[in-house]
Amino acid sequence: MTHDIAAAEFAPRRITVIGCGYLGAVHAAAMATLGHDVLGFDIDTDKIALLEKAETPFYEPGLESLLTEALATGRLRFTTSYAETAAFGDVHFLCVGTPQSAESNAADLSYVDGAIETLAPLLTRPCLVVGKSTVPVGTAERIRDTLAELSPVGAAVRLAWNPEFLREGFAVTDTLTPDRLVVGVDAQGDADELAALYQPVLIHGMPWVVTDLATAQLVKSAANAFLATKISFINAMAELCEATGADVVALADAIGHDVRIGRKFLQAGLGFGGGCLPKDLRGFMARAEELGVDQALHFLRDVDDINMRRRRRAVEVTTQLLGGSVTGAHIAVLGAAFKPDSDDIRDSPALDVATILHERGAKVRVHDPKALGNARRSRPALSFVDDPIDACRDSDVVLHLTEWKVYRELDPVDLGKIVAHKRILDARNALDSAAYVRAGWDVRALGRPNVNR
Ligand code: UDX
Repeated sequence: MTHDIAAAEFAPRRITVIGCGYLGAVHAAAMATLGHDVLGFDIDTDKIALLEKAETPFYEPGLESLLTEALATGRLRFTTSYAETAAFGDVHFLCVGTPQSAESNAADLSYVDGAIETLAPLLTRPCLVVGKSTVPVGTAERIRDTLAELSPVGAAVRLAWNPEFLREGFAVTDTLTPDRLVVGVDAQGDADELAALYQPVLIHGMPWVVTDLATAQLVKSAANAFLATKISFINAMAELCEATGADVVALADAIGHDVRIGRKFLQAGLGFGGGCLPKDLRGFMARAEELGVDQALHFLRDVDDINMRRRRRAVEVTTQLLGGSVTGAHIAVLGAAFKPDSDDIRDSPALDVATILHERGAKVRVHDPKALGNARRSRPALSFVDDPIDACRDSDVVLHLTEWKVYRELDPVDLGKIVAHKRILDARNALDSAAYVRAGWDVRALGRPNVNR
């Protein structure tokens, strides 16, 4: 049900944010700038020490200035104490991570369970706990029961579910001006309390969607599954284009004009990675299996397979460009992050391609504007350089694997003078291929067989 909330009045609250990663750090700072008193909690003392100085352990554009602004209001503090967190908050936002389990495709809920089991016995007055972490449907209901069981005030600790749809790189904008707010509740009073809390955001007129707990949890899984499906759909079309000589970029433009389809998330290339889409897709399938409805999500296996095939295809095209063997070849890899404007290398397609080529005997040099530190730690066998030109110098082939703006600004003529061979694979379909062709490069792209003409 979408409510008209124009009448809601702003109520500044004492808010805690449990878990200060990408999601929680942004949420805590945003809530303080909106006028709430906020206490951010994390078990990681190093992370809290950084946040107290308005610094972040990860790269997120705009977050450090938002933190600076929020800390200056005096309404944002951080702690590593559960007791202080429990005593402070009237509304507790749960923002801890739910990574993929080491043993299976299911989500690892140990951080969620650990936080709730520690917090609940300390909640000695009525309050609202609001889950934001991405969880398998059914988790919220279980948490609600645990809170009632372990808190001294029992069911006076209420639970709501308020999924987050923020994208890395746009986390601040997506939090302050989301395209919708979804809250799953057991009682309308909890939705009204959250409408008053979010009133400065809702004033911009975005949809306010109130559901039951199960629907709210599913909304998040469904949204991510749909986005992943859209990307894999266009990448499946790229395979067809490669087999027929058609051009997937022109195809995406053409079908994207249909407003029912839309052009967004139809960027064919190396596919999706990151800390959310791949693991949420797999967690969703694992949950469907537990629920006995695995057939309903069977198609997501293909979505995952199509996505992983793109990485192998990039290796294949690189091998062709090199005349059939990568052994001993100097390969410049532009990009290590899973997407531009992020230093996140979790499930990064770019790093996977670089690693496969390295394992096949190539000499791979990787550049990334922000993710080099993380990439070095995770793949110490690869070599890394701080300048894209150094990565490309004397290379036999250049691979454009993450579409940072800085790579689009490289001049194909100048770049052509420092490489050993003018060969490039644009695995993100984001470069001006015509300019590279004019500068004498042998250009390949994924899903665009005719790019050299
Ligand atoms: C995603 C969802 O967008 C967000 O709503 C959710 O809360 C978390 O997961 P994020 O992981 O930050 O956000 O990245 P997103 O911008 O969605 O991109 C995901 C991946 O898909 C990236 O690797 C990107 O390169 C790739 N992608 C995206 C494509 O390959 N093609 C596209 O058209 C769009």
